[in-house]
Amino acid sequence: MLLKDNSISKTAIALEEKYGAHNYHPLPVVLNKGKGVHVWDVDGKQYYDFLSAYSAVNQGHCHPRIIDSLIEQAKTLTLTSRAFYNDQLGIYEKFISNYFGFDKVLPMNTGAEAVETAIKICRKFAYEKKGIPEEMANIIVCENNFHGRTTTIISFSNDATAKKNFGPYTPGFITIPYDDIEALEAVIKTNKNIAGFLVEPIQGEAGVYVPTDGYLKQAREICKKNDILFIADEVQTGIARTGKLLAVEHENVKPDVLILGKALSGGVYPVSAVLANDHIMEVIKPGQHGSTFGGNPLAAAVAIEALKVVTDENLAENAERLGIIFRKELGDFAIENDLVSAVRGKGLLNAILINDTEDSSTAWNICMKLSENGLLAKPTHGNIIRFAPPLVITEIQIRECIEIIKNTISSMI
Ligand SMILES: Cc1ncc(COP(=O)(O)O)c(C=O)c1O
Repeated sequence: MLLKDNSISKTAIALEEKYGAHNYHPLPVVLNKGKGVHVWDVDGKQYYDFLSAYSAVNQGHCHPRIIDSLIEQAKTLTLTSRAFYNDQLGIYEKFISNYFGFDKVLPMNTGAEAVETAIKICRKFAYEKKGIPEEMANIIVCENNFHGRTTTIISFSNDATAKKNFGPYTPGFITIPYDDIEALEAVIKTNKNIAGFLVEPIQGEAGVYVPTDGYLKQAREICKKNDILFIADEVQTGIARTGKLLAVEHENVKPDVLILGKALSGGVYPVSAVLANDHIMEVIKPGQHGSTFGGNPLAAAVAIEALKVVTDENLAENAERLGIIFRKELGDFAIENDLVSAVRGKGLLNAILINDTEDSSTAWNICMKLSENGLLAKPTHGNIIRFAPPLVITEIQIRECIEIIKNTISSMI
């Protein structure tokens, strides 16, 4: 057991246990500091962070430029609500729209809110521009998706843990298998009220499932041909994580609607966004959608700096280059090691499959041991371990981490 007989960690864990809802199952590590690729626990032990807060901390913990922009803006103006204009929002809207190549942005806070926003835009577009009869619009989604935790979003989840006993569920979603072009074609053929196709370019939470080359491009073309909005949820895959600014760029795909969150602030503040061109975004009129915090000046200042850091520090290129090394080294290791059955991913969003049953605790035990050895990672869905370090990691550091992972797994056989 990792947990030390340390009163600070014990107290922190006991407080969460007693006063917090038990909606997470964290590793027993109590962190109190982060810088770049590292975090430290209350005993001063240093770890490599290979989760990056589910890919929110792509720019590294407490990036000085992002923190400076946060502090500077926080001293001036933090929140006005959208009842008034503020001097930061327009600058940010122009910046992010140009950055990702869309006409407009709708700013929100969390990833799930941005997904909800995209769903609302898609439905409204279907009724007002496509002429789908009222209440009849359907959005196609994929099996094993993860798009967040709201009631509507979990309505189209097939993860029993996320869904069970939270009904009644929101209708209007049709689920097809992921990475299956024929299924997409078939569902479009048999239903004329399809408004959109909502897809993760790589299924992150499901266990880093990378679709077949060409899937996204073909899906995008099918959507275009059938006047269906192609909605890319890049909350986890976006902002340099997979070795390109957006994961859809690996296949030269431009979505109709782009959903971003997490690393949009470098992990310092909840900032999310939906981007689209004018003919789509204009369906939203005053009073029809919004959020008290969405588009606040603090978020605007932070997000601009977070995106500038991604460009200035070549984070996409770094993720691409180091991801190749990571998969090659661990792929070779998997050939000789019985505990690892596969390695997959893109850029620095990768996972290893542990050779054990889905309900086994092997992946969890490996993560506990990794933590003892100075590297933090967490299983996603049973026997899969995701590895997603901050993208500021260097080649020397990633090679050191590869050794930690190999030695840890080897020591467990
Ligand atoms: C693809 C995807 N969409 C949406 C979300 C939800 O984001 P949030 O937790 O900020 O609501 C996540 C979170 O992991 C995600 O991976």
